[in-house]
Amino acid sequence: MKVIITGFAGFIGFHAAREFLRRGWEVVGIDNFCDYYDVKLKRDRAAMLGGTPGFSARELDICDLGGLKAAFAEESPDVVLNLAAQPGVRYSTTHPFVYQKTNVEGFLNVLECCRHAAKVPKLVFASSSSVYGGNTKMPFEESDQVDTPVSLYAATKKANELMAHTYSHLYKMQTIGLRFFTVYGAWYRPDMALSLFADAMLHGRPIKVFNNGDMRRDFTFVDDIVDGIVRVAESGGLPLYDIYNIGNHRSEKLLDVIKTLADALGVEPKMEMLPMQPGDVYATYASIEKLNKAVGYEPKTTIKEGIPVFAKWYREYHGL
Ligand SMILES: NC(=O)c1ccc[n+]([C@@H]2O[C@H](COP(=O)([O-])OP(=O)(O)OC[C@H]3O[C@@H](n4cnc5c(N)ncnc54)[C@H](O)[C@@H]3O)[C@@H](O)[C@H]2O)c1
Repeated sequence: MKVIITGFAGFIGFHAAREFLRRGWEVVGIDNFCDYYDVKLKRDRAAMLGGTPGFSARELDICDLGGLKAAFAEESPDVVLNLAAQPGVRYSTTHPFVYQKTNVEGFLNVLECCRHAAKVPKLVFASSSSVYGGNTKMPFEESDQVDTPVSLYAATKKANELMAHTYSHLYKMQTIGLRFFTVYGAWYRPDMALSLFADAMLHGRPIKVFNNGDMRRDFTFVDDIVDGIVRVAESGGLPLYDIYNIGNHRSEKLLDVIKTLADALGVEPKMEMLPMQPGDVYATYASIEKLNKAVGYEPKTTIKEGIPVFAKWYREYHGL
């Protein structure tokens, strides 16, 4: 079996590529190595994968329709895992156009390439817990109404779900969207809260704590996310189109997360309490029953187990 992973040099894409390869899949990675965050980290992840039997990579932008079409025609994948995106809620308030470009136009290109492929692949794509917007009903269920996004990032992820539905309906191609809930682990993104906290803590700076620490997040360890992705990719029994939450089913208090990280790093955190940021949501909490029933998904990693893994990698990678 062969999978094309767009965004393979990203945090989740790198871990997913490693797991597919471990399971004997052929993996073709596509990434444009954009400079939203430190490109060296992306290159280092790609270098870790390079040379693994069954792996090949293409430096390509999903907005390049011609290049993408050629890649699909030459590789003829069984599954396409679309992770390439412009992520980040806060960045979407200052850089809206790149979200439209990569997340909407790029995603449309991926849909078109799947549709016109000689052997139409199953498309598994990244959505996000952010589509739940200011939903206050906990835990978040896939049947909840998600028509009121509070960031442009969330709006583009919701758009992906709608576009995929249309393609499944019109062209009978299988598309499965996964709403990821705050993923973390080794090889983490530097723009995410845990990385920013670790950096500040290890340099003796105060960490910025929004909404005075009164926030909750369903933190999901990347190995659990990858396990869910692989189950979906390998399952033969899923519907033509569906959407699943993929989280940890534990909504952690932000201050507990900070304490767990500080303990793992062996430091006493200094905190700067700040108001809520525009576009942010107060809490996320995933119901994971639907994915559990569909493919047996069962996350295993608590933050007490997962955060020390991240902390150890962070210190080693940054030499701190
Ligand atoms: N990490 C999380 O907590 C989280 C939560 C919800 C959803 N997601 C989604 O999961 C996916 C992966 O996220 P991640 O955390 O690994 O992010 P990431 O930024 O580390 O990975 C995305 C990768 O896509 C690549 N990319 C960006 N634009 C591209 C383009 N136009 N063409 C080709 N490649 C492009 C980037 O270079 C990067 O390597 C994204 O779709 C993101 O929106 C992530």
